[in-house]
Amino acid sequence: MTDLFAPLSADMPANDKMAIIAQMRKLIRVLKHHNHAYYVLDHPTITDGEYDSLRAKLVQLENDFPTLKQQDSPTDNVGDTPLPFFTQVSHDLPMLSLANAFNADDVANFVRRVNERLDGKNQNPEFEMELKLDGLAVSLKYINGVFSQALTRGDGQVGEDITHNVRTIYNLPLVLDDCQDIDLLEVRGEVLMPKAGFLKLNEQSRKRGERVFANPRNAAAGSLRQLNPAIAKSRPLAFYGYSVNQGLPNAITTQSGAMRFLQAQGFDVSPFKVVANLQQIDDFYQETITKRDELPFEIDGMVVKLNSLALQDDLGFLSREPRWATAYKFPATTATTRLLDVEWQVGRTGQLTPVGKLEPVNVGGVTVSNVTLHNFGEIERLGVMMGDIVSIHRAGEVIPKVSNVMENLRDDNVRAIHLPNTCPVCDSPVVLPDGEALARCMGGLVCTAQAQEALIHFVSRKAMDIDGLGSQRLIKFFDMQLIKTVADIYRLTDKAQVLQKLEGLGEKSVANMLFAIEKSKNTTLSRFIFALGIRGVGESTARNLAEHFGRLDRLQNASVDELLKVVDIGKITAKNIHEFFRTKHNMEVVNDLMALGVHWQAVVKNTANAPLDGQTWVITGTLEVMGRDEIKAHLHALGAKVVGSVSTKTSVLLAGDKAGSKLNKADELGVRVVSESEFLALLAEYGRM
Ligand code: IVH
Repeated sequence: MTDLFAPLSADMPANDKMAIIAQMRKLIRVLKHHNHAYYVLDHPTITDGEYDSLRAKLVQLENDFPTLKQQDSPTDNVGDTPLPFFTQVSHDLPMLSLANAFNADDVANFVRRVNERLDGKNQNPEFEMELKLDGLAVSLKYINGVFSQALTRGDGQVGEDITHNVRTIYNLPLVLDDCQDIDLLEVRGEVLMPKAGFLKLNEQSRKRGERVFANPRNAAAGSLRQLNPAIAKSRPLAFYGYSVNQGLPNAITTQSGAMRFLQAQGFDVSPFKVVANLQQIDDFYQETITKRDELPFEIDGMVVKLNSLALQDDLGFLSREPRWATAYKFPATTATTRLLDVEWQVGRTGQLTPVGKLEPVNVGGVTVSNVTLHNFGEIERLGVMMGDIVSIHRAGEVIPKVSNVMENLRDDNVRAIHLPNTCPVCDSPVVLPDGEALARCMGGLVCTAQAQEALIHFVSRKAMDIDGLGSQRLIKFFDMQLIKTVADIYRLTDKAQVLQKLEGLGEKSVANMLFAIEKSKNTTLSRFIFALGIRGVGESTARNLAEHFGRLDRLQNASVDELLKVVDIGKITAKNIHEFFRTKHNMEVVNDLMALGVHWQAVVKNTANAPLDGQTWVITGTLEVMGRDEIKAHLHALGAKVVGSVSTKTSVLLAGDKAGSKLNKADELGVRVVSESEFLALLAEYGRM
């Protein structure tokens, strides 16, 4: 047996050893957490430098106390060397499959048969229900609590050794602290790829032009069937246990007890519940169906197991299936039909979504005649054409999607699907930026599909700030066609008579509203730019633009390169701004607004009152005393710019409580960091408090 705690040297007190082991375990836990954040979530929360120093600490401890080195130390990079081939290994106990039940009758028959078999004794036994995880079955062996082998199911008798890949799974415990006395523990369960990780993996592959997986199960299978464990390590795999097949302590007599035992050893397990009768079986089944979409992983049904392990033994197996369990499958969610046509819908923010029109088909009890094709990139990825035979997948309540295209069934009548050049709603140009999947209509101010959004944004507090014209009233006027574009707001003055007659609007409230509209004409350039609702141009970008260009005509005429010189503006936003002012309809509205009297004071830079002129600040963390807007206003008044992310151009990072990655980045780049209290002192110094 591997004794992690065996004495090292006679002169070393046991207490010290325990402390060193505890420190090693802590470092291992932290390093594994960061490995997962880096490799799987693609979202590191510490810098490479910090990671390296943690790792160096562990290496140092391991060098100083080699006999205390932990089996699962990530410093080994265990299994980073590819194997030449997979080794075939016989299972100690065959890995079986489950009989299926497809409806309540099938499950009732299963329960009846179990009761008949129990032959009078133990009638109406308890069942345990679990989610049927859609991944790959694996068998794991732990020798004296140390992970030693992982096998695939194979043909049920002989599997393949995938230890090198399974070892890299982040939630798999490699050392079971309480199992040192169990010579051999066999745990079975499912290796799967959570939905979020799957989507991310495919997105990354798509960007790199590599193949994408059809579903999380295929992705998990593809990842486990790698000879090079570095690939498996980079994939977001997870292990969920569902049985203990050897070595379960005798005191545990039920399947639910075995699941709790696994949890206590640090395993994630398939979510489970003990149920007393058919009604409860069906209740949990229905409840799970409604929650299916919210689960982090895909499931294709539930498993109903007799809870007593002794009764399981009594019932035994029928050929290759246990008599004591059944899979209660969910209704099928795929069907095949023809894609007849594609319509382009324009969303509230201008994105164009292709909607496939289908020859109606029944999918799991629901007639489906529309599918979402998501975006133009998805059409290209699927390689789908109008007239194709396609597989439709429906998951819960969400709009069904095309999961597969039967290219071999294609006939001569198929036609390519093109992205329209102009918006089907307003005829403005449609733009699909290079390398992006999402096409957008550029008629932000005029496209009726986007108009409500544009109007509400235009009058909002940080934009033109027209109180007295709330969003409900605005939408009502829009529906009545009193206003179509934002410029029409300033034409309401001519319509006082009509407005006064509307329900809920008396003479006084109309007068107040028109006064607020009139007042809003006197604004600032940055508010005006923000109010236009150009994609990617938030309040602070608008302010940066106003400061940089000083005049609207200069901004209108700026080239993409000139726009890129403005602080905090990247390529996509620069292109959006450029395109916005090149769209004829948008310019008409902008000109109308100015003709109707919208104006602002010239932007003057007063460096005398701007002691922070030229500085770029970033704010992060939780701030106690002042809201972010207030802080920004002070900083702007003092001449500083405020941007969202830390870079070499950042002058100061204002870091509140619980500051995370931005603080790390600032430390890494040597950017000056001030606390909230230091900031308040600074404000006081400049007479702003
Ligand atoms: S128990 C004797 N429990 O379903 C077989 N299987 O159709 C015991 N599966 O190969 C299997 N989730 O890969 C069991 N909670 C769960 C499961 C589960 C998924 C898979 C497993 C098995 C297949 C059987």
